[in-house]
Amino acid sequence: PAFFQVAIDGPASAGKSTIAKILANQLHYVYVDTGAMYRAITVAAKKAGLSYDDEAGITALLPGITIDFKPGTPVQKVFLNGEEVTEEIRSTEITNNVSLVSSYAAVRADLVNKQREMTESNPVIMDGRDIGTTVLPNAQVKIFLIASVAERAERRYKENKAKGMDVDLETLKKEIEERDYKDSHRAISPLVKAKDAIEVDTTGISIDGVVSKIKTIIEEHQ
Ligand code: C5P
Repeated sequence: PAFFQVAIDGPASAGKSTIAKILANQLHYVYVDTGAMYRAITVAAKKAGLSYDDEAGITALLPGITIDFKPGTPVQKVFLNGEEVTEEIRSTEITNNVSLVSSYAAVRADLVNKQREMTESNPVIMDGRDIGTTVLPNAQVKIFLIASVAERAERRYKENKAKGMDVDLETLKKEIEERDYKDSHRAISPLVKAKDAIEVDTTGISIDGVVSKIKTIIEEHQ
């Protein structure tokens, strides 16, 4: 690739976006949160009054959908057809239905095109489930980020609490496991570690620790 590409894949709540964001800032790369794009399509289905299992209906929406990212703290802002959906894409309803919507062939084809376009004029760090395997198979660096389910549920619990949501740990654990199962078992580009990806286990490691580990890997590949 003409511009440097870092692909970060892994299961839900492994810390991909937290780590990718910090690295993108430090390295001056563009950060692409592909999960936010699948979430935005899921919100579009909801706004159109479609049932999440209406594959044909959701497919028909795709040509009319634009998704934009704008800088923001602590998270970048996400816009669906010009309307901000930054918070809505993280709601429990969207989180629990995004795996179904992202299993549709037309949805994946559409977003993979958009994601590749975003790499044409600048170096990127892109996180998701199929970046190293499908979206950017020639990425210079591929990371597969994992952590124990217990720790991932704990992280999600703290995130929720900070937002004033009180969901018990067991429910979160179940939701994470269910989403991982669906993402790993779908027909088209399931979540799987690319052959040439480097696995980084973040269980018990601080954010700074993970960032410096991956930074070293990136430097070694430059
Ligand atoms: O990364 P995040 O948890 O926000 O992703 C939300 C969902 O979007 C995932 O559970 C998965 O179903 C879908 N997704 C995907 N492919 C990607 C990124 C996300 O199918 N590259």
